[in-house]
Amino acid sequence: MNVGVLGSGDVGKRLAGGFAARGHDVVVGTRSPGKAELGTWAAGVKGKVRLGSFSDAAKHGELLVLAVHGENALEAIEAAGQDAFSRKVVIDVTNPLTFSNGVVGLFVGTTDSLSERVQKALPTAKVVKAFNTVGSPQMVDPRVPGPSRLELLIAGNDATAKQQVTDVVKSFGWSGTIDVGDLAAARWLEAMVPLWVRVGGTLHTWAHVWAVARE
Ligand SMILES: NC(=O)c1ccc[n+]([C@@H]2O[C@H](COP(=O)([O-])OP(=O)(O)OC[C@H]3O[C@@H](n4cnc5c(N)ncnc54)[C@H](OP(=O)(O)O)[C@@H]3O)[C@@H](O)[C@H]2O)c1
Repeated sequence: MNVGVLGSGDVGKRLAGGFAARGHDVVVGTRSPGKAELGTWAAGVKGKVRLGSFSDAAKHGELLVLAVHGENALEAIEAAGQDAFSRKVVIDVTNPLTFSNGVVGLFVGTTDSLSERVQKALPTAKVVKAFNTVGSPQMVDPRVPGPSRLELLIAGNDATAKQQVTDVVKSFGWSGTIDVGDLAAARWLEAMVPLWVRVGGTLHTWAHVWAVARE
């Protein structure tokens, strides 16, 4: 499958590497495709990864991943061109985080989410919120002692798209997903993240995950 990943940060690189290692053909979109350190990273990835613009990545992918800073999500979509997202599944990993005065919060309220704003900007795309509640090191081949079943929380409006994302999640080494509902549920998946940041600050780790322990 052709995969386009918008964003070349920790998340973009981790997920792009996961897709490439599983035989997918990946283009990573960034504002700086010529950056030497990105070239070095891409050359070291197992599998097929190329660097390009946000537009190159969005046009290339049959499946797209949005992995830029939350405050820049709509700007990155604009730069990529809305048409390139048409009818595609878009995995939205972004979080609408703010750090004003050093305090973590959200720039959306409880009646909105960044995923819903992304869906509004891309009306024909099938946006699925996934991976936003887990640290980037654990997104692919998760290594956490704990529940015997490690399930990723996801939300979205399209059942087929959620099934496709569940297949990706399983191929990345997770037991499966817990589908918490339509994209309005992204409000609560995003709201878990300021607490995830607080827990990370207390435990001095950014490789922790929210998971559901159950019978
Ligand atoms: N890190 C985690 O463990 C984690 C876990 C779950 C969810 N997330 C979410 O995933 C997203 C990416 O996080 P990250 O840790 O990968 O961040 P990061 O390493 O700091 O990378 C930031 C990304 O945002 C893009 N960006 C920055 N300013 C931009 C602008 N003005 N216009 C367009 N794009 C811009 C950068 O694009 P370039 O490629 O052009 O530099 C880069 O790809 C965030 O929304 C974050 O909340 C992160």
